[in-house]
Amino acid sequence: MTESQGARTVRDAADVVVLGAGPAGLVLGNLLQDRGIGCVILERATQQHVRTRARAGFLAANTVRVLERNRLADGLRRRGREHSVCEFRTEDGRFRLDYSRLGAGERHTVYPQQELVSDLLTRYLGAGGRIHFETEAVAVREADGNRPWVEARDPDGRPVRWDARYVAGCDGRHGAARRSIPPGTVRRHHRDHGISWLGLLADAPPSFDAVGYAVHPHGFAGHMARTPETTRYYLQCDPGMPPDAWSDARIWDELAVRMRASDYEALREGPIVQRAVVGLESDVLEPLRHGSLFLAGDAASLISPSAAKGANLAVLEAEILAAALAEDLRGAGPEALQGYSAQCLEYIWRAQEFSHWMIRLLHSAPEADRDSLFQDRLRRSRIEALRTSRTQQDWFAENYVGI
Ligand code: APR
Repeated sequence: MTESQGARTVRDAADVVVLGAGPAGLVLGNLLQDRGIGCVILERATQQHVRTRARAGFLAANTVRVLERNRLADGLRRRGREHSVCEFRTEDGRFRLDYSRLGAGERHTVYPQQELVSDLLTRYLGAGGRIHFETEAVAVREADGNRPWVEARDPDGRPVRWDARYVAGCDGRHGAARRSIPPGTVRRHHRDHGISWLGLLADAPPSFDAVGYAVHPHGFAGHMARTPETTRYYLQCDPGMPPDAWSDARIWDELAVRMRASDYEALREGPIVQRAVVGLESDVLEPLRHGSLFLAGDAASLISPSAAKGANLAVLEAEILAAALAEDLRGAGPEALQGYSAQCLEYIWRAQEFSHWMIRLLHSAPEADRDSLFQDRLRRSRIEALRTSRTQQDWFAENYVGI
């Protein structure tokens, strides 16, 4: 590391500078390290925050295969739990689908994202990986040339300059990578679905042994196991509702109503330890590249949580990007890097399409929609087709657990 005289900016370099230590950045960091490519990860948050931030938890079968073949799956093999049943509850009753017996016959592995992230970080550090916490990337500069650099701030707020051959933007939707792409160079596809969910994490065991999707006149409710002691719930809410607008008691009452607990089984209540309002949005950049800057994970595309695809796409993209960067840096030619964006966008659009279908399956049309009764009949018919048609169930299973 050198300090340049005039600007007093600390200066350093790596072949690949990775922004962000989420699933995308850490899978990429590990795989580059394994291939002997010099890289550094810059992460805005503290190490403690990165290791404990509760997020998603459903890993698709293909994600597990990616992690296994790259020797990143020790923790999830030991502590992850297989899961393959979802249950739909509507005004017309309830039904279950065991998707391990449908479609491609695959299952999810339930493994809280913070545990996966923590495993990836431990492995990266154990192999001597370089990472700087509390270091915020401000901008990616000169990405349209061969010598991009990252302007960052160290934990004391001092300017740091990282020179690179390539920069990997894995710093999420609000990160510096996206912000650094000049307007008009990359196309942005954006859709606000006009629906919000209050996402909740409860210190309470799952209430039943399936992922639960309830469609109710009050709005959607969801139930997803995280660990034997913690459960994620979702309640559709008014867009813009403050996350603390409802007391814990009101939340459990509303969950019980929408899940029709009095008809089936009582919910297992406990303290709500995390709450956030998430707007269902889709956002895809095309291509996932601007010159020497490549995007992966939420920085590349944002997907609504309705089908739990976000973390799975992040892992897959990181694997593809690692192989392509390594090929290029070893002098094997730029073809793989040139194909990175198109290859990932195929997976991204497929996941977007399914997640969009799930949104329309699980929500009554907004009341403001003059067409809402018509839309609602379509929604009921869609669920009925899923309940009764084996072909529809096979299609659902393949897309639900696949990526
Ligand atoms: N500089 C450095 N780090 C940054 C910056 C910045 N300017 N901005 C954000 N970060 C860091 C965040 O602190 C976070 O640790 O980038 C990381 C991005 O990680 P994630 O948000 O987990 O994104 P990603 O790796 O793409 O994984 C996406 O995880 O749960 C999810 O919904 C999410 O499913 C999606 C998946």
